Amino acid sequence: MRIGLLTGGGDCPGLNAVLRAVVRKGERVHGDTIVGFLDGWRGVIERRTTPLDVERCRGILPRGGTILGSSRTNPFAVEGGVDSCKATLAAESIDALIAVGGEDTLGVAHKLGGEGVPVVGVPKTIDNDLSATEFTFGFHTAVQVATDAIDRLHTTAESHDRVLVCEVMGRHAGWIATYAGIAGGAAAVLVPERPFDIDALCVALTARHERGRFASVVVVAEGATPAAGTMTLAASEKDAFGHVRLGGIGSVLAEEIEKRTGFETRNTTLGYIQRGGTPTAFDRVLATRFGAAAIDAVHDGDFGTMVALDDGNIVRVPLADGVGQLKTVDLELLAVADLFSG
Ligand code: F6P
Repeated sequence: MRIGLLTGGGDCPGLNAVLRAVVRKGERVHGDTIVGFLDGWRGVIERRTTPLDVERCRGILPRGGTILGSSRTNPFAVEGGVDSCKATLAAESIDALIAVGGEDTLGVAHKLGGEGVPVVGVPKTIDNDLSATEFTFGFHTAVQVATDAIDRLHTTAESHDRVLVCEVMGRHAGWIATYAGIAGGAAAVLVPERPFDIDALCVALTARHERGRFASVVVVAEGATPAAGTMTLAASEKDAFGHVRLGGIGSVLAEEIEKRTGFETRNTTLGYIQRGGTPTAFDRVLATRFGAAAIDAVHDGDFGTMVALDDGNIVRVPLADGVGQLKTVDLELLAVADLFSG
């Protein structure tokens, strides 16, 4: 078969491991030819391709990013975008397409599937907010990066008896904040799932500092919001999928904590450091398993599905289940983080 492959949305560690696995199994086991589309859906719209074979994939397993490039282009938001995609797939004689992405990229895959494009999805995002899979690859690496940062912040916070805010990614779900907060022993974890009470937070931080020299690290997800009417946040721009560009809550929060408690407070925003660089072993294995399973799904003609992790096993689920609703952090897990707050 001639199979198209693309990576879309925000990049994440492990994308190259997926590509390598698709190519290895496609070429060596099924005798396929793999065609890479450059820069996500933009490459399909513009018919920009690159040949992908086992030789091209040598050495990419531990490399962050994606050798195919990525973009947040949405063919449904570009005039004639969907027709261009279909025309490219016909012109390139593509029998099936594998799309590696998060809710946006897979949302497009799902819609194109509805228009007759044979497509299989592979879920990726550092945010871990895709439904129907226990984990997405990239998440484990982001948590490790954030945990390392929190450990480092703790030692300097202790030296100066400061409050240090650590802003991590997570627009709609606080998975990175919650996992890294638990792993790093944060004094508070603030997530989009639960508007925070700045008064209660400051009371807890004050009590903590009054008990002794307990420097505090507060982990805040970029999408965390204060309870209505308690703090003002700046408005943000939107991307092609209508998501607001966030990043800024950490510094606003740090200012507010310092003003209310009198403790010296500083913010560190981890930003793209969480997304770049080499994947952890866990993410490499998960991404490799996903890639190998995706090419099998194509050969079984199981289109409109995405591969997923279910209780340690790789399964196939309808794409609709993955993109229908975001997977948010459950309150039970937050309660574990809360045990150590204040
Ligand atoms: O979707 C993954 C993610 O890293 C989010 O956590 C973050 O909000 C967003 O991407 C940033 O997007 P961009 O790359 O467009 O700045």
